[in-house]
Amino acid sequence: MAIFKQKFIGNVIAIFFFATSSSQSQNSTVIKIGTDDSAPIISKHIYGHFAEHLGRSVYDGFYVGEDSSIPNTNGIRNDIIDALKGLKVPNLRWPGGCFADEYHWKDGVGPKQERPVIINTHWGQVEEDNSFGTHEFLKLCELLDAEPYLAGNVGSGTVEELNDWVEYCNYDGNTDMANWRKSNGQEEPWRVKYWGIGNESWGCGGNMTPEHFANLYRQYATYARNYPGSNIKRIASGADSDNYDWTEVMMRDVPHWMMWGLSLHYYTRTGWPPTGNATKFDESDYFLIMKHCLKTSEILDRHIAIMDKYDPKKRVALVVDEWGSWYAVEEGTNPGFAYQQNSMRDAMIAGISLNMFNERADRIKMANLAQAVNVLQAVILTDSEKMLLTPTYHVMKMYAAHQDSKLLPVSFESPEYTFNGESLPAISASASKDKNGLVHISLVNIDSQKENVVEIDCGELGVKGFSGTIVASKKLQDHNTFDNPGKIATKVFKDFKFKKGKLSVTIPPFSVVMIEGE
Ligand code: AHR
Repeated sequence: MAIFKQKFIGNVIAIFFFATSSSQSQNSTVIKIGTDDSAPIISKHIYGHFAEHLGRSVYDGFYVGEDSSIPNTNGIRNDIIDALKGLKVPNLRWPGGCFADEYHWKDGVGPKQERPVIINTHWGQVEEDNSFGTHEFLKLCELLDAEPYLAGNVGSGTVEELNDWVEYCNYDGNTDMANWRKSNGQEEPWRVKYWGIGNESWGCGGNMTPEHFANLYRQYATYARNYPGSNIKRIASGADSDNYDWTEVMMRDVPHWMMWGLSLHYYTRTGWPPTGNATKFDESDYFLIMKHCLKTSEILDRHIAIMDKYDPKKRVALVVDEWGSWYAVEEGTNPGFAYQQNSMRDAMIAGISLNMFNERADRIKMANLAQAVNVLQAVILTDSEKMLLTPTYHVMKMYAAHQDSKLLPVSFESPEYTFNGESLPAISASASKDKNGLVHISLVNIDSQKENVVEIDCGELGVKGFSGTIVASKKLQDHNTFDNPGKIATKVFKDFKFKKGKLSVTIPPFSVVMIEGE
């Protein structure tokens, strides 16, 4: 069933033999929004986040310690908790990433002064004192009211170690593991549902072949047990971007009942190591990054086609548990810390990526932006006691309206955003209806120069009135700074007209708009 048609989403659609920027004239695009009883629910877990022991994500990010002068709860910053509550964070993935495959969870429980100090070999070779471990992370999830998603170590950990971790977290009884948890202050099991098994096992997680990993996965997944009242959802380490062979082998060699989800990582970046600065870029850099981001559509569709071949009933979820932009680090920061600023360009990436995930909600059941605080496409940046919310934060806040809502099929032909003779689809859209009958339409116009007018046929929706919000700014490079943290924020949007069942919206250049209809 084709539930959603968006022409031109994907690769470059046309090459023109002239070099020019877009003109100022308006386009008018007709968007048809239908209703389809068989359309899927957009899982709230598509709006998940990720916190790795990487750079200043955990230490000097989420976690400042109980003795910090920064207001905190059990060492976790209160301002970060409050801000993330605004996003309705559904789940948080931890402790990595690459770090997960060298993390031995037993190092991070018990009295802090007795916890060993290890080297974080992946990320800057800094010392890790394990002061933020399982109890601290699960407290963070409790404060956020988010589901924890723990990533288990397959690269350098044992089957027994993973089984012990599941038992420690989830078993309500009188075993050594359960009693150890209790003696460390947690009487009731946490009943953690989401368990990753390995991370990037084709690379930092062990440099394995897919055949080798598929077998290992079967073994580790077997011993990651369900305990009474705590059935778990196992998520297998999946492919990187266009490594379709990985998905093929995993789907072929692992029975569907062993794998709730298969992961996929796709970063919007140009090359490895990542190049370009997060805020110092020109339009050609912007265009290239948009092209890479729109490539997500093809990547998703090809992995999904393989999954459909082996699992036409869609029992195995695609879990995009790392996505987002990746640029060169900010000048003067540790090259191993992946700290980058976040501009209007990242707001575009967030808006179009989330629309692409919504569109495929029948297969994609979870996704995690990399990462929440101070790393890559962060929603929050901190500098000592200061904190700022990035443009990506504001987009995710608007899009929270789609969580657990029913997808409404959208079809249209996008106008083009043309630069230097190449074209990309300018408009991306997604729509849903929530439990209270509110309709939400998220619209992105990536054109750097031109506003685009969309005419939305709302005939079938039975909606009578609309309101809107927008994330926009004067320049593509605009971003929030610690001196001016409010430069980019969500604003009320009124540039639309509703007449005879047709909603006409004028979307400014490089902006993200959310329309709510009731
Ligand atoms: O998010 C940063 C890193 O990117 C993760 O540790 C790894 O899984 C990926 O390569």
